[in-house]
Amino acid sequence: MGQMNTALKIEGVDGKQVLSGTIPVYGSKNAALIMLPACILFSDEVVLSNIPEIEDINRMIELLAGSGVSIKRKKRGTYSVSVKDKLNVNLDDKIVGRIRASVFLIAPTLARYGRVTLPYPGGDNIGTRPIDLFIEGLEKMGARCIKKNNRYEFSIDGKLHGTEFFLRIQSVGVTQSILLAGILAEGTTVIKNAAMEPEIVSLAKFLIECGANIKGAGTPEVTIVGGPLLKASKRTFVNIPDRLETGTFTILGALSGKKVKISNCNPAHIQSLLSVLEKSVSSEISVSKNSITIKNTKPLSVLPIDVRTHEYPGFATDLQPPLVVLLTQALGKSLIFETIYEERFNYIGNLIHMGAKIITYDPHRIRVHGKTSLSGATCTSPDIRAGLAYILAAIVAKGTSVIHNVYVIDRGYEKIEERLFHIGVNIKRK
Ligand code: EPU
Repeated sequence: MGQMNTALKIEGVDGKQVLSGTIPVYGSKNAALIMLPACILFSDEVVLSNIPEIEDINRMIELLAGSGVSIKRKKRGTYSVSVKDKLNVNLDDKIVGRIRASVFLIAPTLARYGRVTLPYPGGDNIGTRPIDLFIEGLEKMGARCIKKNNRYEFSIDGKLHGTEFFLRIQSVGVTQSILLAGILAEGTTVIKNAAMEPEIVSLAKFLIECGANIKGAGTPEVTIVGGPLLKASKRTFVNIPDRLETGTFTILGALSGKKVKISNCNPAHIQSLLSVLEKSVSSEISVSKNSITIKNTKPLSVLPIDVRTHEYPGFATDLQPPLVVLLTQALGKSLIFETIYEERFNYIGNLIHMGAKIITYDPHRIRVHGKTSLSGATCTSPDIRAGLAYILAAIVAKGTSVIHNVYVIDRGYEKIEERLFHIGVNIKRK
């Protein structure tokens, strides 16, 4: 919060491939944002490690602590979480208004304590982001949801019960929430057309190790058989690496790297991006089990490519803004079809201001005409992923850029300027 008004100042490399060194990937924001509330389903202390120290996690910790959950930071990225027999089930208005992930408290709190109330959750301005499917799924499991004085109030008599729930939209958050609700429910819950993101697989692994009966996570049909509260029994769970950081750093390596190694990552989680890069960039990309190395031995050449964002394992919507920066350097026209959110092109205006040639067809489709050279500019980051796209554009550009509203970048990326500085980016927080 203290850093809300700070800005990042970047000197661009003017289209050259000069960065070199190793950049580490930290723990996954989105996996951590569901693991923390999942601890509500445990009867004993849970220890989580490789949790990124970012603003969204700080808000989640404040929200859980405000409900009465005890959270202790043992060392950097390692937290112990213990839940009491009673919690304050009325979630804090201010924090819920700031992070969308507040909705992840609904299912576990309701399943264990029978009641939870919250206002409409806030978050990035990337689309409408309704919560209708959370409500529908939980209602199918026997919950009541009423809206009173601008708060949603969920309640149940006794326990939730198992159900079969077909997701009209393959939502990550709803899949995770119904999975959590199923753990304490009476009987069997089947989620059909479930989302398949790695964050869901890692959540299920963690819960299964602690006694949950879950099958099929990572496939479109997930089955959960309800049972008692889970037990961590003194285990420590290691969070997975952030695949969106991995993808963003890989794009940066292709754009401006001489030789950049991305360490502590899981390349299998960004296969879709790697297949796009294989087709479009001249860089040499080599992949090991937990690292990616990108080399540009000659000036980068980029071929245009049409990309459609899709649920996992398709092309991640969160990697769409950095990919567009890369495609401003492609020789020719690329069509980008954003299928998940209707306001995720909110950052295009500033790229155009920096020199990009981009035509907007409708809220879901743009065409990028390359190759254009970019010039440094002053801009304000509208959301976390757009913020990273601006950082990439500023690095590629000629001249100085200043990016304001760094708070939204700090929401998702820990010590971003330190890590980028380490591979040769001329970046300062001011
Ligand atoms: N949707 C509904 N009704 C609902 C829930 C979702 O219509 O009740 C719609 C959404 O409006 C959207 C689509 O379903 O159009 C998919 O959204 P989803 O629920 O899958 O997204 P999410 O769970 O809210 C997570 C990530 C997002 C990421 C999306 C898509 C977390 C905390 N957030 O959001 O990450 O973009 O999945 O992959 O896991 C980010 O990290 O910057 C970010 C926004």
